[in-house]
Amino acid sequence: MTNPDLSGAYALNSAEDCRRLYAEWAGSYDHGWAATMDYRLPAEVAAAFLRAGSQSGDCAGGSGGTVLDVGAGTGLLASALRGLGFSGPIDGVDLSADMLAVARRKGLYRTLIEADITRPLPGSTRYDGMVSSGTFTHGHVGPKALIPLLRSARSGALVVLSVNAQVFDKMDFTVVLAAMEPQILDLQIQDVAIYGNAAALRDAAHAQDRARIVSFRAR
Ligand SMILES: C[S@@+](CC[C@H](N)C(=O)[O-])C[C@H]1O[C@@H](n2cnc3c(N)ncnc32)[C@H](O)[C@@H]1O
Repeated sequence: MTNPDLSGAYALNSAEDCRRLYAEWAGSYDHGWAATMDYRLPAEVAAAFLRAGSQSGDCAGGSGGTVLDVGAGTGLLASALRGLGFSGPIDGVDLSADMLAVARRKGLYRTLIEADITRPLPGSTRYDGMVSSGTFTHGHVGPKALIPLLRSARSGALVVLSVNAQVFDKMDFTVVLAAMEPQILDLQIQDVAIYGNAAALRDAAHAQDRARIVSFRAR
């Protein structure tokens, strides 16, 4: 495949396809795609996570507590968290070894885990916080990943993740989140733009795409 892009990513329908696409994309993802699209979602999620954490004064959103970056990719969300002053340990999990290899070189993560988040995560770590940008989207991950992820969250953990707005509606996230009420509390949903103005020049079809930032605590 040449010139991997959002249309290819949104059309994925297996883990193998996903690994193949991101193997092609990993080397150019940050500078050839995210920068030229003015990709704002990692910064939006990082800011929402730190805001929610500081409002409640807990360690996950402050300087301590271990946070898992779900679908970490090349590490743009960890980079945004560090840029906003988060100094606690960050682990990352992703299906793509090639994306994780780029993330590893940035030196932002304590541990990087190659795994499928629709299944229970390997190991016994229970996280104080979880963040995710760009992973709950077309052709990637739907709400069924939420339950296995929660198994790796401590009671009280702050979870802040983006969901592509069309996917949010199409895959009934509202219904799924309501059904998770026995496992979560303090649910909040915020609508944000995924890209800035520069995206119109690069990819007009997706430039106006929006995401919902979903935040809650594990009970
Ligand atoms: C659009 S990228 C987002 C990466 C990064 N969070 C960002 O905002 O730049 C989506 C990532 O989700 C990962 N991914 C897709 N399906 C996955 C799954 N089932 N388990 C773990 N990671 C997955 C892909 O490998 C890819 O790195």
